[in-house]
Order: sequence, then C-alpha cells, then structure tokens
Amino acid sequence: MAQRRLPRVVFDYIDGGADAEVTLRENCAAFERVTFRALNAVANAPVKLRTSVLGTPIELPFVLAPVGSSRLFFPRGECVAAKEAGAAGTIYTLSTLSGCALEDVRASTNGPAWYQVYLIGGRDVASHAIERAKTAGFDALVVTIDTAVSGMRERDVRNGAKELASQEFHAMLPFVHQLFAKPGWLIANLRDGGLMQFPNILLPDGPLRYADVATALEQSTVTWFDLGWIREQWGGAIVVKGLLSGDDARRAIDAGADAVVVSNHGGRQLDTCSPTLRALPEVLDAVAGRIEVYLDGGIRRGSDIVKALCIGARAVLIGRAYAYGLGAGGGAGVARAIEILRNDIARTMKLLGVHDVAELDRSYLET
Ligand code: FNR
Repeated sequence: MAQRRLPRVVFDYIDGGADAEVTLRENCAAFERVTFRALNAVANAPVKLRTSVLGTPIELPFVLAPVGSSRLFFPRGECVAAKEAGAAGTIYTLSTLSGCALEDVRASTNGPAWYQVYLIGGRDVASHAIERAKTAGFDALVVTIDTAVSGMRERDVRNGAKELASQEFHAMLPFVHQLFAKPGWLIANLRDGGLMQFPNILLPDGPLRYADVATALEQSTVTWFDLGWIREQWGGAIVVKGLLSGDDARRAIDAGADAVVVSNHGGRQLDTCSPTLRALPEVLDAVAGRIEVYLDGGIRRGSDIVKALCIGARAVLIGRAYAYGLGAGGGAGVARAIEILRNDIARTMKLLGVHDVAELDRSYLET
C-alpha cells in the first residue's frame, strides 16, 4: 500500500538499501533460516507480551526505531507515528533527522520516547539538541555509530533524490514526474509545508536544509571519544546503536553504554556486512549479561521477533515494518503494522507452547 501511495523516490528511500542490497536481503533471510522447535499439546492461555527496557515497562517486546525523514512519508509523520507507539504502549525513537520539532514529537505520545542523536553541525549544535531533548522529557538517548558517511543507496541515485532535494528547477526536471504521478501524496505534502527541513539541527543560519544533509553527516562521525562527552551532556541512559561484533560491544560497555542495538542500519550502510541475527550471539557472549542487548534489521513478521528473543535479545526495534504503514496510511497504517506484529507474536507463542516472552529461550529453536 505504501508503494501505491508514495512517489517512487520516497518509497525506494524507505524500501532500499546500500549498494547491491545484499545485507538488506540477508537480514530477512537470516530469520528464515532459523527454525522453531515447538512444544505441542500445551494448554492454551493468554500470552504475556509485556517486558521492560532500561527499567521502563512496555506492552510489546518491540520499539519503533529511528527513521529519518518520516515527514516525507506522511504529514507530520514523526508526531503521527509517536502517537501510535504510545497508544500501543511502546517506545517511539525520534531520529535527529526528523521533520518535526522534537518537543512536538515528545508531546504527541503518552508513552516513553527515546531521542537518537547524530553530531551533525558539530558539538555546539548537538549539545543544544541534547539539552532540548532533556527538557522535553525524552527517556533515553540513542547514539548511532554506523553512519561515518551515508551508505551508497543506488535507488536514491537512480530516482534523483539529490536533484529533487536541490529544489533547483533544471536539476529536478528529469525526476519530478514521480511526484506528479502521486497527486494524493503531493497535495498532502505541499499542505504540510513541502520539502521538510531539519528543525532539530539548528545551525547559525536556521534549520539544516534537506539538500545539505549528506555533507553534514560526513562531517559529524561519532567516535568512542565523543561518547564520553555525550554522556556528560545527557546525564541519563544511553543506547549505542549500530554494532555487529563482540569487540564493539565491549567498547560500548567501556564507554558507559546502558544498552546496545545489534544493527547494520537495516542494510543501508556497509553492504555485505553480517545480517544482524547472525551477529547477535557474538554480541551476547561479549556482553555476558552486563547490559541489555537489542536487535534490529529484517524484522517483517512477529515470528522474527520471537526468534530474536529466543536467541537472547531483550527486545527488538522495527524500522521499515512501521515505516511502510506510515507511508501507506499515516497513523492508521502504523497502528495496523503494530497490530499485525502483536497478533503474529501471540499466535507464534501459542503455537510454540509458551505463555510469556520472558520464557523464550534457545530451546525453542533448532540450532
Ligand atoms: C533508518 N534508520 C535510521 N537509523 C538511525 O539511527 N537514524 C536514522 O535517521 C535512520 N533513518 C532511517 C531511515 C529509513 C527510511 C530506514 C528504513 C531506516 C535505521 C533504523 O533505525 C533501523 O536500524 C533499521 O530500519 C532496521 O531495519 P529494518 O527493520 O528496517 O529492516
């Protein structure tokens, strides 16, 4: 449905990955290769999906991942998605690269919320955003570390994403037909202010412009050295997102992380790196229970979530699974995506003979 409503350049921005999209595909394929071992003839009872992350209770074992530029998918997209996350009793993670002001997004959800930080614009600019996130009442800071430069998303090149963002008539001309092909989306987007800017990256001359984001990202790599500084600025819980090895997990713990997300950015950054499900055991071994470990990448069904929990993830993050819903139908689409996953998890657990997500372990998988 998202593909039907969105211009190709927007749909492919969500759907696509880096280079040959090997990791994008492998993230999903890794789940298919893990098979269940059910306990049958177990009495049917209501299943408990409630868990907690960083001490915060959540009604579902999944959290909404940071997805930049959500305002391009649907008017005020970040606020719309945050509201549905809150209504479902889970956490919305807001990307630095959002089209809505972080204060508005925080006020849109009655649930917990996390803020994902990039150091775009330098430390002064980031420090201001961190201060704003603290004042607005975000519950944890997510520091994404796999974005030294933007990945080579070849679909974006083919669709002229950069040219369309330039807002220059001659550059846009060969690509602009994609926007007119989806008049419903176009009218909604124009009514919402047209091409979004980044109100959470306040540069001396105003919010970062869409056309400048790739260059700005490249100048703002987060290093382990920066993490100490970020911790000082924030003073609360920190989740380090975007690692695939035991080595990086140990570094994250040394740098004071409270949790890590095993993630390859949904296959959008370094192509042909490990699928996340395959990397999970190595990270769990290195962490050895000292901090919480989450996973994202390739989750399209509730059974995928059950598998990640069986292997040992405390919870998972979902990206595209809800972004497609947002693009398809705004809040109703996000709510439907969450409902599909919730029902999937409950059904899978009943078929496995498990009543509580806390009871999921490797004995329910063939290894
Ligand atoms: C992302 N992701 C991401 N991550 C992040 O830390 N900051 C960001 O701004 C974005 N932006 C973004 C945009 C889009 C369109 C997608 C699809 C993803 C990565 C995201 O948080 C998460 O790691 C992946 O989406 C997980 O993979 P799946 O669930 O999409 O397969």
